[in-house]
Amino acid sequence: MPRIQVRPVDRLRIEGGKSLHGSVRVSGAKNAALPELAAALLTADEVRLDNVPDVRDVQTLVRLLSDLGARCERLGRHRWALSTPEVVNPEAPYELVRTMRASVLVLGPLVARCGRARVSLPGGCAIGARPIDRHLDGLAKLGAEIKLEHGYVEASATRLTGATVEFSDVTVTGTENLLMAASLARGTTVLKNAAQEPEVTDLAALLVRMGARIEGAGSPTITIEGVEALHAAEHRVIPDRIEAGTFLVAAAITGGKITLEDVEPAHLGAVIEQLRAVGLTIECGAGWIRIGNGRPLRAVDLATRPFPGFPTDLQAQYMVLMTQAGGACELDETIFENRFMHVPELRRMGASIGLAGSKAAIEGPTPLTGAEVTASDLRASVSLVLAGLAARGETLVHRVYHLDRGYEGVEEKLQALGARIERIR
Ligand code: EPZ
Repeated sequence: MPRIQVRPVDRLRIEGGKSLHGSVRVSGAKNAALPELAAALLTADEVRLDNVPDVRDVQTLVRLLSDLGARCERLGRHRWALSTPEVVNPEAPYELVRTMRASVLVLGPLVARCGRARVSLPGGCAIGARPIDRHLDGLAKLGAEIKLEHGYVEASATRLTGATVEFSDVTVTGTENLLMAASLARGTTVLKNAAQEPEVTDLAALLVRMGARIEGAGSPTITIEGVEALHAAEHRVIPDRIEAGTFLVAAAITGGKITLEDVEPAHLGAVIEQLRAVGLTIECGAGWIRIGNGRPLRAVDLATRPFPGFPTDLQAQYMVLMTQAGGACELDETIFENRFMHVPELRRMGASIGLAGSKAAIEGPTPLTGAEVTASDLRASVSLVLAGLAARGETLVHRVYHLDRGYEGVEEKLQALGARIERIR
């Protein structure tokens, strides 16, 4: 079983004020890799994944899959081979789901493959209550019997049966759970108001390679003809659009000029449009994006939306950029009810940000000064790193383990672009 390395005491020290220059390779998307690793539970054959990011959430999921009975072999830093001849114990325990909510992605595959799953209910987290009622309603529509007991979801079905599932509101992992479950159901499933995120489309592409019959992925209506069994497949995970967007902001905020390699510009349409409105120069081609110096930066309002809108996972980073832009603007976080945990820390560094419900009002530009700050979740923590890059003096970011969940080698990548950043172990 792979060991999970947790280094709760790691900190990042950043000496701000250095502009970034050069090229950086974007890693594979964490939020595509996670459902794709879980999809390996759907078949006894081997599923090979390439471009899997080397991040802690992947290690956590691999540990869970191993406990369930999957053989997970690491073929290289970014290559995994998984096979699950038999599910030995269809249970995702509290201990793991608590550390990573995405563990809930094993629910659909387990019920579909072995007719039974026991998965701890995730509970709230730093960014909101985040229930999974839409996943459960959908699985119930496919005929699963769902019981909630002792903090666990128990789902069972002799064989799932295709049905029409209309999500009351968009859910990314809910759509993914249903896609996986419906692939092995008897008959046709139609998912309405499905998530259109590139990670969902990429999961569908893997499932099709495994023999699933899926049409419409990437649109709000997805049709799945269930098959008797799925088989071996190889797949390359798409580039991480959120990591890419984070580096674009890093360049913008330091007045730098960088090129992203191994990136998919089509996945960043709303982000590129927003950054251009701010005044940044952005050019794109097949597999690359170049961002140039755009000073002075203009303040531009933003509302987060499901894809193809501006992603909530880049809201905190965009907010830091707005602290350096001229004028006032408003950010409306429409996806999660509590995703402003970075605001008090940014204020301590000198930002002028007012909060009212789902909205943040930012006045800029305000000079930022380095400070000791504490990260509360993955994207909040990277926003503090960005603020540190723009600030005068030294910033010390605590609780870096949040960052390690989803960013591969962030300090090495930033160092290569000229940032003064180091990890203190
Ligand atoms: C995925 O989370 C991502 N995680 C998140 O990335 C991302 O922020 C989010 O989608 C939105 O894009 C993975 O892909 C592993 P949702 P998910 O279900 O699927 C509410 C990151 O930093 N909701 O689309 O859990 C929910 O509370 C992370 O990498 C229900 O009420 O998000 C939220 O307000 C964090 N009931 C909204 O819907 C449900 O059954 C959207 O959540 C499901 C969701």
